[in-house]
Amino acid sequence: MTFPLVRMWMNSIAAGPLRTEIMIDQIEAINTESELEEILTRPRPQLLEVIKTCASPLLILGAGGKMGPTLAVLAKRAAEAAGHPLDVIAVSRFGDQASRQWLEARGVTTLSCDLLDARAVAALPDTENILYLVGLKFGTAQNPSATWAMNTLVPARVCERYPRSRIVAVSTGNVYPLSAVSRSGSVETDALTPLGEYANAAVARERIFEFHSQRNGTALALLRLFYAVELRYGVLADIARKVHAGEPISLGNGSFNCIWQGDANEMILRSLPLAASPPSVWNLCRPEIFSVRQVAMRCGELLGREPVFSGHESDTALLGNSAPLGAALGSPPTPLEAMLRWTAHWVKQDGRNLNRPTHFEVRDGGY
Ligand SMILES: NC(=O)c1ccc[n+]([C@@H]2O[C@H](COP(=O)([O-])OP(=O)(O)OC[C@H]3O[C@@H](n4cnc5c(N)ncnc54)[C@H](OP(=O)(O)O)[C@@H]3O)[C@@H](O)[C@H]2O)c1
Repeated sequence: MTFPLVRMWMNSIAAGPLRTEIMIDQIEAINTESELEEILTRPRPQLLEVIKTCASPLLILGAGGKMGPTLAVLAKRAAEAAGHPLDVIAVSRFGDQASRQWLEARGVTTLSCDLLDARAVAALPDTENILYLVGLKFGTAQNPSATWAMNTLVPARVCERYPRSRIVAVSTGNVYPLSAVSRSGSVETDALTPLGEYANAAVARERIFEFHSQRNGTALALLRLFYAVELRYGVLADIARKVHAGEPISLGNGSFNCIWQGDANEMILRSLPLAASPPSVWNLCRPEIFSVRQVAMRCGELLGREPVFSGHESDTALLGNSAPLGAALGSPPTPLEAMLRWTAHWVKQDGRNLNRPTHFEVRDGGY
């Protein structure tokens, strides 16, 4: 069964990309993974303008994770819609063969490569444009050396291989320490003094990019992302699943930022012209700060369950202020209420869960 608004949205696909902006928050429900993937990879006109200026090929490094597959297909669909010939090359180890097949079926070239291997990096194709998604976060407590190696050696190899390319590197909001909730989020010029090995390795990742950008004049944009969300993973899915299961929701880290993954991916692509040397640095999230309690209460209404809470809100949380990127690229189009409606519906119908919890409640930097 297809909901009427989803049908309207599907009709809008035939009508072309200009309709998407009007439709996105009118979609009542997302019922299947293919509907979800269509929405996540549907290009807006703003993206077509940028993609037309992107020389082929576009290389996406670390493309086999949660964001890379839909990012690569978004780029491909934007190029097709713009009538611009663009090879999109997704590079990853592709432990998950399903994501490799999914990409190939949608016109994205895949290359299996361990980016820790300098010879393999040397053999990658030349390119003017790189999106960098490689990272390692979870499991740091058990194997910190792997986190440090992945987040420092790989950026160095990539920068040495591509000194003349434009690079958009996705960093994380974890580079900041917790900030006062009353302050409305860390800003890009704040000191990078976070707690924990993962966060400090993420600072090192940025510093290595910055060092090479300064030394070689490599054009670089660093995007500090605060929680991309879609229906199969993310902080909203984590909260909604706990509400649905009657599990306690920790309020210690009582506020957060997030952004719909389709919007985050679009902004990553549209940041290519923002790359500069010395690097430009931007927080990437929706402009609002959200309350865990209020989000859980709204999920409770949508799911017909009473949320269970544990602890209470602190004065500080991991928060970012994304005003500068919003001023440069415009506000991300997908509002919280639409994300919550879709997430609650997805959870209620037992939609697929990647089983990769965000651990949004962590305050001591231990992942
Ligand atoms: N998703 C979020 O909410 C979020 C929030 C803040 C920051 N970020 C940042 O955004 C980036 C992308 O996010 P994501 O959620 O897609 O991350 P992810 O799921 O961890 O994906 C990154 C991918 O990089 C690939 N990779 C790791 N080491 C590699 C190596 N040696 N050689 C080749 N590929 C390697 C892995 O895929 P293979 O196994 O196929 O190699 C991995 O799945 C990450 O760097 C993360 O720091 C994400």
